[in-house]
Amino acid sequence: EKGGYPHYMLKEIYEQPWVLENTLGGRLHEESANVELGLDLDLTRFDRVHVIACGTAFYAGWVGKYLIEELARLPVEVDVASEYRYRNPVVDERTLAVVISQSGETIDTLEALREAKRRGAASLGVINVKGSSITRETDATLYIHAGPEIGVASTKAYVAMLAAMEMLALALGRARGTLDAETARGLLGELRKLPRLVEEALERRPVVAHVAEKYHQATDFLFLGRHVQSPTAYEGALKLKEISYIHAEAYPAGEMKHGPIALIDPRLPVVVLATRGPLYEKTLSNIQEVAARGGRVVAVATDGDEGIRRHAEDVIYVPEVHPLLAPIVSVVPLQLLAYETAVLLGRDVDQPRNLAKSVTVE
Ligand code: F6R
Repeated sequence: EKGGYPHYMLKEIYEQPWVLENTLGGRLHEESANVELGLDLDLTRFDRVHVIACGTAFYAGWVGKYLIEELARLPVEVDVASEYRYRNPVVDERTLAVVISQSGETIDTLEALREAKRRGAASLGVINVKGSSITRETDATLYIHAGPEIGVASTKAYVAMLAAMEMLALALGRARGTLDAETARGLLGELRKLPRLVEEALERRPVVAHVAEKYHQATDFLFLGRHVQSPTAYEGALKLKEISYIHAEAYPAGEMKHGPIALIDPRLPVVVLATRGPLYEKTLSNIQEVAARGGRVVAVATDGDEGIRRHAEDVIYVPEVHPLLAPIVSVVPLQLLAYETAVLLGRDVDQPRNLAKSVTVE
């Protein structure tokens, strides 16, 4: 049932090109320069968005914040569900609550949804499991169609959630008139490339395996990124923690000098998301800051960026894509890094200690 793979997690990582085909399938429409999501919601009536989720789904929501603010010019707040429930959020009928969940059963997310609804929000679920508890209580559901995810560490559901959030942001932008047809068509074209680009990213596994071999004895890892790649850094750190039990932290790269830079020493591998985009130069400066203090930089960089080799000890290349879509391609080597490291350390990849696939208790 693992299709010849030693673990479900690896099988699910390799399913991602196909999963993206499924998530995007039939939903991209170049003629209207829009996506068809079949949502029974008037997307023009909102003036703010609250995104609520836990764990990996929360990181997908965080990427969604950048996307919705950029393409739809709506203010977005993102909360982990266990905080949202108890923080007295400011909500009214013009608030759209977007709850993201693979299982659709996470109790904190379900309760946060109920709280948002009690306060008058309209609600949209971005969900994998059909007919799950959350889907029965939202006004509309955007299914991510990732298929059953068995590995406790979420992988394919994450890229599917990201693709769904891209489409949601595009739909909001088109409905609100903040996203012109030409820009939208450009994004649709980039979305269509994703399955192939993720396939290409998977082919870089030998490079990732080499990095894992080099650093699997480290006791700590730091992950850095900026803008949409900040959540990618957090997701990379979460994956590594969950299945290898190595302590890992993530920061938006610009925060480094406000404290975490004190941690840099020659024993600390620092994984930096340094793909091409508007903040590339700033990220490069962060890499130089780490290297100058003896930190070991592993850069995730865009194909063709030879210059980055001057600053980073190891480089994992990923295919070029629109900067707003970079998280979908860049998370792949981070998933593989966590996987390869966990295998080298003899961990139980599919059933990491203390974790359950869906968290239905508070
Ligand atoms: C991470 C992981 C968890 C889940 C979180 C939310 O690999 O699996 O962090 O992402 O428990 O679960 P769902 O998406 O089912 O609500």
